[in-house]
Amino acid sequence: MPSLNDIRSTFLSYFEKQGHTVVPSSPLVPRNDPTLMFANSGMVQFKNLFTGVETRDYTRATTSQKCVRAGGKHNDLDNVGYTARHHTFFEMLGNFSFGDYFKTEAIPFAHELITREFGIDHKRLLATVYHTDDEAFELWKKVGIPEDRIIRIATSDNFWQMGPTGPCGPCTEIFYDHGDHIWGGPPGSPEEDGDRFIEIWNIVFMQNEQFEDGTMRELDMQSIDTGMGLERIGALLQGKHDNYDTDLMRALICASAETTSTEADGPGNVHHRVIADHLRSTSFLIADGVMPSNDGRGYVLRRIMRRAMRHAHLLGAKDPVMFRLVPALVREMGAAYPELHRAQPLIEETLKLEETRFQQTLDRGLKLLDDELGKLDEAEALPGQAAFKLYDTYGFPLDLTQDALREKGRSVDTDGFDAAMAEQKAKARAAWSGSGEAADAAIWFDLADQHGTTDFLGYDTETAEGVVLDIVKEGAATASAAKGETVQLVLNQTPFYAEAGGQVGDTGEVVTEGGTARITDTRQVAGVVIHFAEVTEGEIARGAAAKLEVDHARRTKIRANHSATHLLNEALRRTLGDHVAQRGSLNAPDRLRFDFSHAKGLTETEIAGVEREVNDYIRQNTAVETRIMTPDDARAMGAQALFGEKYGEEVRVVSMGRQDGSGKGTDGATYSIELCGGTHVGRTGEIGLFVALGDSASSSGVRRFEALTGQAALDYLRGQDRLVSRLSGELKTSAGDLPDRLKALLDERKALQNEVAQLKREIAMGGGDGSGGIEPREVAGVKFLAQTLTGVSGKDLRPLIDEHKRRLGSGAVLLVTESDGKAAVAAGVTDDLTGRVSAVDLVKAAVGALGGKGGGGRPDMAQGGAASAEKADEAIKAAEAVIGG
Ligand code: ALA
Repeated sequence: MPSLNDIRSTFLSYFEKQGHTVVPSSPLVPRNDPTLMFANSGMVQFKNLFTGVETRDYTRATTSQKCVRAGGKHNDLDNVGYTARHHTFFEMLGNFSFGDYFKTEAIPFAHELITREFGIDHKRLLATVYHTDDEAFELWKKVGIPEDRIIRIATSDNFWQMGPTGPCGPCTEIFYDHGDHIWGGPPGSPEEDGDRFIEIWNIVFMQNEQFEDGTMRELDMQSIDTGMGLERIGALLQGKHDNYDTDLMRALICASAETTSTEADGPGNVHHRVIADHLRSTSFLIADGVMPSNDGRGYVLRRIMRRAMRHAHLLGAKDPVMFRLVPALVREMGAAYPELHRAQPLIEETLKLEETRFQQTLDRGLKLLDDELGKLDEAEALPGQAAFKLYDTYGFPLDLTQDALREKGRSVDTDGFDAAMAEQKAKARAAWSGSGEAADAAIWFDLADQHGTTDFLGYDTETAEGVVLDIVKEGAATASAAKGETVQLVLNQTPFYAEAGGQVGDTGEVVTEGGTARITDTRQVAGVVIHFAEVTEGEIARGAAAKLEVDHARRTKIRANHSATHLLNEALRRTLGDHVAQRGSLNAPDRLRFDFSHAKGLTETEIAGVEREVNDYIRQNTAVETRIMTPDDARAMGAQALFGEKYGEEVRVVSMGRQDGSGKGTDGATYSIELCGGTHVGRTGEIGLFVALGDSASSSGVRRFEALTGQAALDYLRGQDRLVSRLSGELKTSAGDLPDRLKALLDERKALQNEVAQLKREIAMGGGDGSGGIEPREVAGVKFLAQTLTGVSGKDLRPLIDEHKRRLGSGAVLLVTESDGKAAVAAGVTDDLTGRVSAVDLVKAAVGALGGKGGGGRPDMAQGGAASAEKADEAIKAAEAVIGG
């Protein structure tokens, strides 16, 4: 029985044999379409190849594409776990022709693969064709499908469109007949929703392009786009009726059962199915750079994660479970998708963190839900207010609450939920008028109500004229501001960029007839652009016409840094992997900073590679394209969903590297495409130069990359150069010989240090002649040698003691020394005398006399310390007394 991994390989290698290039799956977050939430079919990464906008060095391709359908139009989330064929994550196998072969090859290819390679019984196949497509009808007949099993369909089911506009065409679908023991009718019949006839492959004849005005044109070339769900064909080939019974899904279900110590097929089966599916979507999303958050893609991820966690909770799991299942997933799918391997630590950390956090409110939320349900009649829906409280206080996404209610056959009042959400927003606004700083902020909502939001002109110009609509002084609107006053100005329109998306606010000047103000910063609240102003001349009055001028030099540097950040983002992703996702950034005039998800520090080679790549793109000097469009227009570009993303009124798409062949990324697509509201250079060459300063840890799993551009980068390099010149001047050598010279100096220093220590020891011994210098005295018949030293460190005393003992032959030695502001004492007694006198006693007595405490060692050698050696004479006397008995 072939495994899903085998089936994937068979598919790809069949088409490779037919001259197709095996292209890796594109990331789940589409690169060439910033408005589409997730890749949801194989053709997404090839969108522009069908319309001829883009070409690559192949015209036949085959892929196994990672797809996520959760949220937006294609939302399978609610059904996962409860049905046989719904997934939030699945793999779509496909073969593609870009103006290469068409129907006459595509149909026989599909037929051959299914019947020969997969060995599916030819007699069980049915095909549907678009009702006018005689050619496809004849081609199916030719490969041997009887006429009564080729069904003409007139509906949109057999005319495939990627969206309201874009490439499209009639399609033919292949169905498998499971046999009359299962209820259901052939496609097009009233019983088509039954389970007997299952669609296994969709082949689209891309030959038209649909436009917004409803017209359609024939494309210059005819192409092929196909899609076959791996899990579905897998179930068929493994003789199963349920995708979740295939080997791969089964392995994950068993891992879930094992980790939660429950039965895979017991009452918990539905939970294991949900967990297995959600494990795949969450892990792949994180590997492709999505992080849980409260809006957009991150929120979809969070919803899936929390849903899986609730199902683990239903299985009785008290501790985080999901992160423990990642190794099983990597085992099953890591070979086909190496990004899973690369991102494994990030996936595990992210899951664990999210699970730990959510666990804290899950129990209480579920209890609240039960309490609320207890107050209601059986048939009553959960009030929207309660669902909203679960959302707001306990972090329950609405669909999680719905999922929890579904098991009880209950529902939720979603209108009530929406109303509660709207009410909370209104309250949030009202809450601004609290106290202190918040009171300051409240005024901007009022000004927004009064004047509307500020028109931003700064994408196209740095100078403009506007009208002073209001002046805010210490939190209140005022009619005028005089020289020396610090206020905030509101204008009807402005070229000043308000701090956002990591780009700092603009500075510059506002000139009216009555007075002039310096703008020191620009921010934004509730759509109102706030110009922080210091009146430098005369008086600025409400209603005055004003000339507005952004500090051009500063903005130019900010622009260069912002565009460089986009290139850096892409270069990091290409160098480190698709898990790299922006976590924050700063685009200031003097530097740029980019925070991104990545588990470990970058190597020197990686940093150098990223730096080289960014500079390559700078030198290519391609135009930076910024397009502004409404979300509708963005959707019309091929976006199938704009789910939840906070795009505002318009979507701004910034792309770099499309203008000429050399500007393309290695995969042939436009190098960098980002949704971005910032200001950018006209051509990448304006960035001038990009110099990496290096990377550091920002927070767990997040790295911070810092860099300079343009003159700042050059100044930095110059500075480094000057430093080197100065050093080589000082060291009297060439720059190239600096490392050797420095090493020689350090070696020499080390040798000198050793020599100095040696000399100090010798001096302590009484000079270099070895005569000893100091004479021992006799104390109670014992030769006692005592000496006070300075500048000799405690650790150097031991060899001195040994040396003195050797010379005495028989006797006792006491050395007291002071160095680095503290005193050290050492004593030695030759072995023949240790029965009479102990070095430990000598040291203790001496240390005590010095005002210190302790000291220890062996009878023949002991050491101790004190704060000062001032009373060295007394220390010696004390030792003498010990010997004297
Ligand atoms: N793009 C086609 C589909 O998604 C093959 O069904």
